[in-house]
Amino acid sequence: MSLNGDHRRAEVVAAPQKYAQITGWGMYVPNRVVPNDTFVKMGLDTTNEWISSRTGIERRHIVGRNEATSDMAVRAAKEALHVAELNANELDLVLVATCTPDHIMPSTASLVQDRIGAKSAGAMDLNAACAGFVYALNTGAAFIESGRAQNVLVVGADELSNHLDWKDRTTCVLFGDGAGAVVLRASDKPGVMATTMGSDGAGANLLTIRAGSRKRHSNAASNGHAAQDSDYFLKMNGPQIFRWATQMMAKAAEKVVAGSGLKTSQIDLFIPHQANFRIMDAAARRLGLPIEKVFSNVAEYGNTSAASIPIALCEAVQDGRVKAGDTIVLASFGAGLSWAASAIRWGVAVKPQVSRWRSIAYPVGDRMAAWRSTLRRQEWRVRAEVDKRLRKDKD
Ligand code: ACO
Repeated sequence: MSLNGDHRRAEVVAAPQKYAQITGWGMYVPNRVVPNDTFVKMGLDTTNEWISSRTGIERRHIVGRNEATSDMAVRAAKEALHVAELNANELDLVLVATCTPDHIMPSTASLVQDRIGAKSAGAMDLNAACAGFVYALNTGAAFIESGRAQNVLVVGADELSNHLDWKDRTTCVLFGDGAGAVVLRASDKPGVMATTMGSDGAGANLLTIRAGSRKRHSNAASNGHAAQDSDYFLKMNGPQIFRWATQMMAKAAEKVVAGSGLKTSQIDLFIPHQANFRIMDAAARRLGLPIEKVFSNVAEYGNTSAASIPIALCEAVQDGRVKAGDTIVLASFGAGLSWAASAIRWGVAVKPQVSRWRSIAYPVGDRMAAWRSTLRRQEWRVRAEVDKRLRKDKD
């Protein structure tokens, strides 16, 4: 198979003004858990054994009726800011990687920016499907390295459950919902060391959701309550994506490791996109990495699309798998086709908990962000009313 982009070198951070350092991390998954058995109970022609042996997935978390991508993104973002001990108003940029935004416009990033109180930040969405978070991380890092931003919030959030045909056993068993976030800060020490991003639009038909975002919550995420219009459904050529992904993740990872001046044997932790355990295992074997160096939580969450890598990163940190000085490689692939990888030198000590003062201060900060948002909304309403009256007076 031809893998376009092979010739490209990793974008090496040769002498950046600053490095982008991950200083905060957070995640959120919905409470509602759907184990493999649920599909059998729904009457789908599948078994727990097939799903877990062919994918490694045991269960997934699915959004509730009143939960949207922005809701999950806000929860993960707040946690990441708390860990980074950073006030939202110090953020310069909010990036939300998602292929399931609440609306086509406004961006989900703007909704997040408002709700966390990031009043000085620009905000934009980025869609590279499951590769979106690493794309967004690399983009955020580039803003910091160029000196155009000091503090960037990068979120990966998706609710693909709203785009699944719950009668299609080849897709609906694979995905779950969730969000993960990191805070990137300018630092003199690396940081993000090397990045790569690629796309092969010739493979666009292999993984699609043809129709755009539906009105929020129009399709309840409950199993079996599928929308009528099949254009809203995710469709995928699984086996072809499988073969491509095993090669592409390994190649992308090799590129960023070489771009950092390292060897693959120096990777301390490999965090691949959590789509299928067999894909991760095959990619690790290509890289010559023992499976102990690969982080996987696909059993618990399934494929959470843009959220998969930041959720995995969070859990790796919480599980004590990451320590200061470690080399971590993130590698992702997804619809597009698109792929991205980053090599990161973990630069901060993992603190067991945030300080007592911070744990009091942050809920206050959250409340203030909510008040600010309410006041701003009132202000827009008053402005609209004043405009209307002025126009009437003119007439
Ligand atoms: N239960 C039981 N049988 C099933 C199921 C199921 N849930 N799904 C498929 N099968 C059947 C197929 O119909 C087929 O039956 P047949 O031989 O009678 O035709 C048989 O199992 C084998 O199917 P394959 O598709 O060849 O199975 P494979 O081992 O390739 O596994 C899978 C399928 C899990 C989808 C795999 O190909 C895969 O993981 N692909 C990658 C998908 C992926 O990662 N996508 C996400 C990209 S990221 C993004 O941007 C969203």
